[in-house]
Amino acid sequence: MFYTLIHTIHIYSVFIYGGFLFVDILFLSKMKQTLSEEEHKKAREAIMMHVRKVVPYALIVAVASGLYLFSQIFGKISDNGMSTFQMILSIKAFFGLWLGFRGINQKLFGIQPWVFKAHIFPFTLVVIIILLSQFMYL
Ligand code: HEM
Repeated sequence: MFYTLIHTIHIYSVFIYGGFLFVDILFLSKMKQTLSEEEHKKAREAIMMHVRKVVPYALIVAVASGLYLFSQIFGKISDNGMSTFQMILSIKAFFGLWLGFRGINQKLFGIQPWVFKAHIFPFTLVVIIILLSQFMYL
């Protein structure tokens, strides 16, 4: 029951975080096509001031809930080495932690570690993470 609750929280938080990245990449980035540079700056800030109050925290919740799920579901590594599930889950968790590390650093300490300048890279990682989290059960 507790696992299901945390799993549900994981999905919602991932939905908020990933959802923003999808909207940003697919739609908000297109504002430049019809707005002047000044208008675009203003319009983007009008949205980002609300995004900053929610999305970074959704990422923190996604990572914290993910760590709990991981601790419950990963299981023991057998003598033959890791199962496919364990390998794919490890890769997914690594990418998720990378996003979390970067997000927490940016939010709490104002630093931009590694290559994240635009949202296209975190967006790509989220697409990959979602694919991995579906295929790890095959
Ligand atoms: C922003 C980063 C993350 C995204 C976008 C993400 C996305 C997802 C998605 C879409 C699922 C599948 C849910 C379902 O089909 O029911 C999932 C499940 C899972 N995630 Fe994450 N996740 C992230 C971070 C993490 C982290 C950092 C960890 C662990 C350290 C983690 C561990 C797990 C585990 C163990 C499951 C399997 C839960 C289950 O099936 O019972 N996730 N995640």
